[in-house]
Amino acid sequence: MCGIVGFIGQNDSKEVLLNGLEKLEYRGYDSAGIAMLNENGMNHFKVKGRIAALRERVDNTVYATMGIGHTRWATHGVPSEENAHPHQSASGRFTLVHNGVIENYQDLRKEYLSEVSFVSETDTEVIVHLIEKLFEKYQDTAEAFRQAMGLLKGSYAIGMIDKEDQETLYVSKNKSPLLIGLGDGFNVVASDAMATLKVTDQYLEIYDQEIVLVNRSFVEVQKLNGVVVNRKPYTAQIDAGDIEKGTYPHFMLKEIDEQPFVIRKIINEYQTNDNELKLDAAIRRAMKASDRIYIIAAGTSYHAGLVGKEFIEKLAAIPVEVHIASEFSYNMPLLSDNPLFVFISQSGETADSRAVLVKIKEMGHPALTITNVPGSTLSREADYTLNLYAGPEIAVASTKAYTAQIAVLAILAVDTAQAKGIELDFDPMQELAIVANAMEILTDQKETIEELTREYLATTRNAFFIGRSTDYHVCMEGSLKLKEISYIQAEGFAGGELKHGTIALIEEDTPVIALATQANVNYSIRSNVQEVVSRGANAMIISMKGLEQDDDALVLPHVHELLTPLVSVVPLQLLAYYAALHRECDVDKPRNLAKSVTVE
Ligand code: F6R
Repeated sequence: MCGIVGFIGQNDSKEVLLNGLEKLEYRGYDSAGIAMLNENGMNHFKVKGRIAALRERVDNTVYATMGIGHTRWATHGVPSEENAHPHQSASGRFTLVHNGVIENYQDLRKEYLSEVSFVSETDTEVIVHLIEKLFEKYQDTAEAFRQAMGLLKGSYAIGMIDKEDQETLYVSKNKSPLLIGLGDGFNVVASDAMATLKVTDQYLEIYDQEIVLVNRSFVEVQKLNGVVVNRKPYTAQIDAGDIEKGTYPHFMLKEIDEQPFVIRKIINEYQTNDNELKLDAAIRRAMKASDRIYIIAAGTSYHAGLVGKEFIEKLAAIPVEVHIASEFSYNMPLLSDNPLFVFISQSGETADSRAVLVKIKEMGHPALTITNVPGSTLSREADYTLNLYAGPEIAVASTKAYTAQIAVLAILAVDTAQAKGIELDFDPMQELAIVANAMEILTDQKETIEELTREYLATTRNAFFIGRSTDYHVCMEGSLKLKEISYIQAEGFAGGELKHGTIALIEEDTPVIALATQANVNYSIRSNVQEVVSRGANAMIISMKGLEQDDDALVLPHVHELLTPLVSVVPLQLLAYYAALHRECDVDKPRNLAKSVTVE
């Protein structure tokens, strides 16, 4: 959470900083600020709110060839101008932006900074005062910066400017993402390459606990002990067009529409010219060798994991447990003899998942990460990676990454089944191609789904999603989508479980959305619908071709029964989208949220 950007070059830094922050807004949007250094000194602008407000606050007459910027998702201290970054040291010499959480900030404050008066409630302010304190001792900014980084515990990505040095940006990271972008006569710093793709596609990775001195024409990476590290840059594989909305009113709608193309891309990437599955042989061996798979994820990725469990157990006959990352970390179950950990994460940066990864690596267990960002922390630190090929997902509510995760999990399960010599009676790629077509049919039915939204969700304060077996997992995802962007209180329930308590919540006109895509529970889920209708619910059934009945609100095109989540989720995503739109909510940036959750 929080995004940082920095620039040092020959031209004005303002537009690179503001544009970069706009691209990073998905990481947090409570407050924002920039600081730019020129011969007149530090020019500092901060606002509570979004980058659009910061743009208005910035004095356009300021011209400065170096600067740092920040967009915040509040952890310590409410969203306010005082708590917005950049933060300054007491003398005003050092100015700093930070993403992460400093766990020992109170200890550091007590030990080193008892006489300093703080202006914010943030943990970040401790860092900048600490650097100033250490500067008094070392009289050298790089050394003070290095010593300070050595004292920090927790996660951080930091960019700092020394007012007396117009030649250097001081940068460091630990557990939070940060990259250096390389240009001709300029260099940039960013939490995500997307932020600065307009100015460069050449990037240098920074590893944890490294210090980077960024000049206009060179970049020096050092370990914390001062040893210089040589590292080659890489070319960012992001198409600049992928991070623009184009003609769409919202990224979320664009990303929902992209799902058929993502599925086709996945088919291409994971298939050889001879129509064989194409997966790293080492992954196949690790899956085959495992006696139990532990899927670790959060939020929507966790919901994809629940579907993945079914694939792996039903097709490859390996038992699977799916765990919420933040729970697993502190309440680890009894592990099997040969566990394989599978981390599912769109961003590859989720701190809760990373905490588990660190623990299980210490225990010596193998890990596979399934992610949309191959160079991300979870990808780098796991033994193996499977890429989602979904393209950048900008809307905070995940859509195309969820379906990509399910498609890749299906391919992984089939590949493992084949490796184990288990015969399957279907061609997975052909079935996925059918899914892509089905998704397209559904994304073409926006008017119908908008109409259903009006009929069922226009004025309600709550809603229930019910389904059985695989449909239940999709209901959990559908309810998460609805609540996170429309703020309607929504829950996904197993159809059979309602009568054990939750049915007490059903009142006259309570919307209940039921999924009926599984033949073996088609009868029972419809009985559950009757139970809520008898108690006044306004129920709609979304069924699958072949299982439909008169009066079903929507009939999905027929796809392989295991793959139904890939299509049944599409109308649920669209219902959430239109519900948010009707309520005039900020679809792409819902309140209180951020896309990449890099704090535990
Ligand atoms: C919801 C959503 C979140 C993420 C969760 C994990 O729409 O996007 O629930 O799924 O924060 O994020 P990743 O997948 O990046 O680990």
